[in-house]
Amino acid sequence: MGSSREKLIAFLEKHLSDFLAYWRKHMYIADDDKYIDHVERNGLSVFQLVKEMLGSTLHLDDIRALAEKIAKQRAEANINIGEFVYNTNLGRSLVIRYALQSGLSLEELQPLIDDINYLFDQFLFYAVTKYTELKNAEIQEKNLLISQSHKDRLTLLGQMSSSFVHEFRNPLTAIIGFVQLLKFEHPNLKYLDIIDHELQQLKFRISQFLHASRKETAEQQKEIIFLEQLLEEIVAFLYPSFIEADVDVSTSIDPEASVFGYKDQLKQVCMNILLNSIEAVKEKEKPRQIHVHVSSNEEEVLMKISNNGPMIPPETVQAIFEPFFTTKKLGTGIGLYVCKKIIEDHDGKIMCTSDEKITSFSISFPLKKGNSLPV
Ligand SMILES: Nc1ncnc2c1ncn2[C@@H]1O[C@H](COP(=O)(O)OP(=O)(O)O)[C@@H](O)[C@H]1O
Ligand SMILES: [Mg+2]
Repeated sequence: MGSSREKLIAFLEKHLSDFLAYWRKHMYIADDDKYIDHVERNGLSVFQLVKEMLGSTLHLDDIRALAEKIAKQRAEANINIGEFVYNTNLGRSLVIRYALQSGLSLEELQPLIDDINYLFDQFLFYAVTKYTELKNAEIQEKNLLISQSHKDRLTLLGQMSSSFVHEFRNPLTAIIGFVQLLKFEHPNLKYLDIIDHELQQLKFRISQFLHASRKETAEQQKEIIFLEQLLEEIVAFLYPSFIEADVDVSTSIDPEASVFGYKDQLKQVCMNILLNSIEAVKEKEKPRQIHVHVSSNEEEVLMKISNNGPMIPPETVQAIFEPFFTTKKLGTGIGLYVCKKIIEDHDGKIMCTSDEKITSFSISFPLKKGNSLPV
């Protein structure tokens, strides 16, 4: 039986070394492929399957087993699956090319070629399926790891901030109270205003942690906030810091622009961004400029706080909103994280753009029912 099959097997075996040499020369393989030795052995294993297929002694399970074994190696070597498919199909066309030169008639050959194609199709199907499965599992594992470490950081942030806040806030409130008392009893005592101002700033910074941990959100009400007034208050509050850093502040604010939201939270956002901007422009020579621009149209209110400080490298721009990302020696890295959270709680968006000349933080609040002044 099957003399044509036997003939073809013998013919292929006879030309095996030419066949392998050609395959090796034309396949894709990276120099640093850690399974480089395996690849040729795998090629031989597939050739073995071809012979068994032709000899009608092949079990389908064997195709699957070999395909999955190779897929696993290929996944570990992290190769491009396209290369693997290419190499396999190169093997297939070589086998068929040799088969055509074997001297068998086309009639004899046809069923054999069908068998060979069937083998390769099955082989590729199992290999690619397995490869995809392994790669997907790998991606899922990575994502899990990322979101776990993100959660860990947030939990840590929560724990840190609540203990931090409680240990600092009570004495601070007492000190602020006593400073008020001193001011009252000794209205002409020097430096009290400065001390008071510094303490207010400290209190503000501590309250940042409250927002970051979300342990205590003040039982505040949303209200209509005119940004012009809000920003004027903040600029006045920060005035000593602008002077100290020798920064020119300018504003252009649409007096109509308003947002429906939590005043203290929005104040905190503006303060954070302005304090960051002061710290940024301090890094460079004068003139140091900060500009606050607010505009509004039917669809949204736009606030843009810009400064002419050093550029934030493009790869960092996304990272600055992550908790604990800081480039400062004494930074906490939570300021912008809190800003983003607050803005998103207000259905708004915050983004940062930066080039050599200007760095801007843009905040947009969509104007829709419930978020803005009723028109
Ligand atoms: N206006 C700005 N110009 C340049 N870099 C900025 C600016 N604002 C923020 N950054 C960068 O973003 C980082 C994170 O800011 P932030 O979350 O407020 O934390 P922190 O101020 O404690 O570092 C800063 O360390 C700084 O590198
Ligand atoms: Mg900051």
